[in-house]
Amino acid sequence: MIKVAIINGPNLNLLGIREPEIYGTERFEDFYERLQERYFQVSMQYFQSNVEGELINFLHSCIGKVNGIIINAGAYTHTSIALADAVGAINIPTVEVHISNVLAREKYRKTSYISAKCVGSIIGLGLEGYALATQYFINTITLQ
Ligand code: DQA
Repeated sequence: MIKVAIINGPNLNLLGIREPEIYGTERFEDFYERLQERYFQVSMQYFQSNVEGELINFLHSCIGKVNGIIINAGAYTHTSIALADAVGAINIPTVEVHISNVLAREKYRKTSYISAKCVGSIIGLGLEGYALATQYFINTITLQ
């Protein structure tokens, strides 16, 4: 079975109540339940933290355990070389997801340190971005 870890960074625990005009009205936990039902053939793990070091530790803990990672690093996307280094270090295919279209927002959101370490990025497609990233892993990972 394909194993995928989904990692959400700071403030994404507040999805559903946080700026709903930008991020929508659905809680991530509710979306995640539906995602697991939709992709029952994938074994998923979910981790969220508001703490940079905890996100890095979790990325390290993924070594040898998962086939793919989906990460929405929140604002750390635009600031954290350490998090980008961690993605680069673990050698696990990683897809970057952003719910909002960061390229259409403030200037400081246009830079992502993480993008270059990822196989690709899905931005601006709402929570559906996590589903598309999951589908990418289903289509591309062949288990030995
Ligand atoms: C976000 C975009 C980031 O700029 C922001 O800091 C977030 C959420 C997104 O999913 O659209 O926390 O990553």
